[in-house]
Amino acid sequence: MKQKSVYALIVLNLFFCASVCNSQTVIATHLDKNYLPYGCGSCHVGLEFKYGGGANRCLLCHGKLNKASAAWMKNKQPVADVSKDFGKNYRHPVFDKKGIHDGKEVLPEVNPSAPRHADCVDCHNTHFLAPSAPFNGIKGKRVGNFNTQITKEYELCYLCHSESANLPVRSTNKKIELSTNNPSFHPVEGEGKNFSVVSLLRPYREKKSSAGDISVIGCKDCHGSDDPSSARGPHGSKYQGLLVENYATGDNILESTFSYSLCYKCHKRSSILANESFPSHSRHIAGERNFKGGGTSCYTCHSSHGSVENRYLIRFNREYVTESSTGKLKFVEKGTYAFHGECWLSCHGVDHNPKTY
Ligand code: HEC
Ligand code: HEC
Ligand code: HEC
Ligand code: HEC
Ligand code: HEC
Ligand code: HEC
Ligand code: HEC
Repeated sequence: MKQKSVYALIVLNLFFCASVCNSQTVIATHLDKNYLPYGCGSCHVGLEFKYGGGANRCLLCHGKLNKASAAWMKNKQPVADVSKDFGKNYRHPVFDKKGIHDGKEVLPEVNPSAPRHADCVDCHNTHFLAPSAPFNGIKGKRVGNFNTQITKEYELCYLCHSESANLPVRSTNKKIELSTNNPSFHPVEGEGKNFSVVSLLRPYREKKSSAGDISVIGCKDCHGSDDPSSARGPHGSKYQGLLVENYATGDNILESTFSYSLCYKCHKRSSILANESFPSHSRHIAGERNFKGGGTSCYTCHSSHGSVENRYLIRFNREYVTESSTGKLKFVEKGTYAFHGECWLSCHGVDHNPKTY
């Protein structure tokens, strides 16, 4: 260690420890001497402060363990390796867009021309995080003069995937879509409204009635590594959309367990294809008559997150679905959760003006 950095460390410990070390309610993983015997220096020797330290410093320990990294750790224990997932096709752009994070920035972004980014330190506050409080220390949305403290996964994601002024044009505001005020939504912020989601596989349930039931899910149930043995977190996946399982979103798709495996993780394939809810599910998904190469994806009719207009997550994919011959494009429910309705639209040249089920 160089003389200068040792001096810098002493200064750090003396003057800044007050702010970093005292406000602990739980023992922060990185300040735990049982893990990192060299304390602050484990990261602050040679750290580029301006850009949140640079992701490479994190990879010293959270990449492949080697002699250099082992030297910084007690027991030279291997830690969660995130490097593999960041090498996959669909990932948070930590290494693609370096040096944009600013320790003083406030998210959600208000400047429409600010470059989009995601650094390790945007999602992890290394001074405060602990297994029981993974989001400890991350500044949430600003309310008045104060920043709220993030405690839930979705609050973290909304920092960049809700009302950000620099949201990419093809992206949607996830906070609006997942709002529990909508007619339908995947139950992330709270339990859902539909009591007869007949396809649900246990332990997933509409309402929690016994200990093992899961009626509220997280972004992490759909977004994360394709490899279940990989480190937790939405770092990267080989599946498009940074999804834990494959999900084909196009048209003329051959139905298979793989094509829609994300949905079939929680919704029983045999129930969907046996038309237990929508009498024409199988016809549209598996294909028939009007469909040459196969069927159409769930995505042609269902939003993945929520629908501000309809029940059953109905939102038509405008890439394939257009107005009916009388210029209407809508879903009308006939009775609440009664499995009857009508559709006004045109798809594959078939006019639904309307078609009723
Ligand atoms: C696991 C790595 C790690 C350890 C250990 C660590 N820091 Fe940091 N520290 C960082 C990173 C990364 C940043 C930049 C954060 C940002 O820009 O958002 C930072 C920033 C800081 C800052 C600038 C203000 C701030 O909070 O952003 C101070 C001061 C600081 N650290 C002090 C300390 C002290 C004192 C210790 C030891 C008690 C310590 N750090 C231990 C990674 C670490
Ligand atoms: C000097 C080694 C070292 C460095 C550098 C380091 N970490 Fe860690 N980190 C550890 C150890 C040790 C653990 C605890 C063992 C584990 O969870 O695998 C840990 C745990 C974590 C955890 C899991 C927390 C928990 O307890 O569940 C996260 C998240 C994390 N680190 C993020 C980061 C980020 C982001 C950086 C860079 C700013 C970073 N780490 C830098 C050693 C390091
Ligand atoms: C600091 C900002 C930031 C935070 C916080 C954040 N993201 Fe992202 N996310 C991005 C950026 C930047 C991209 C690249 C595309 C874009 O600009 O939207 C992205 C892309 C994605 C994608 C699309 C990947 C693809 O291949 O299409 C998913 C899915 C995603 N994030 C999920 C999440 C989830 C889940 C969380 C919360 C655990 C989260 N993000 C938190 C900035 C962020
Ligand atoms: C039930 C599964 C599921 C849950 C839960 C879920 N997503 Fe997604 N998400 C998807 C699927 C499928 C796609 C790809 C198709 C699409 O764009 O809708 C996607 C796409 C995305 C994208 C890329 C498209 C865009 O608009 O930028 C982002 C970002 C994203 N999700 C963020 C989130 C966040 C944040 C959460 C939690 C607050 C979340 N998702 C919860 C299934 C889910
Ligand atoms: C991690 C589990 C999980 C995954 C993955 C998942 N769902 Fe769901 N889904 C649920 C739960 C739980 C509900 C029940 C919500 C309720 O009771 O309102 C639900 C409800 C629904 C509903 C009915 C919503 C309503 O209000 O009527 C539709 C439609 C739906 N999901 C479609 C999909 C599609 C399409 C996919 C794949 C892109 C998918 N789901 C993936 C758990 C999941
Ligand atoms: C878009 C947000 C986001 C970004 C960017 C991000 N992470 Fe994570 N990471 C998460 C989330 C969410 C978790 C899961 C936290 C939990 O539930 O405990 C996680 C988990 C982890 C864990 C614990 C894994 C385990 O299985 O114990 C480590 C270590 C980690 N991240 C390191 C990093 C490093 C290093 C970087 C930068 C190279 C990084 N992360 C970038 C969101 C992010
Ligand atoms: C052609 C449009 C269309 C396609 C394609 C489609 N659905 Fe549906 N789905 C509907 C309609 C309409 C309903 C509402 C039926 C009712 O209750 O009136 C529905 C209801 C549902 C429900 C709620 C009831 C239940 O069965 O639990 C789930 C879950 C669901 N669909 C999943 C899927 C999945 C998964 C796929 C793809 C494998 C898919 N859907 C493809 C139109 C479609």
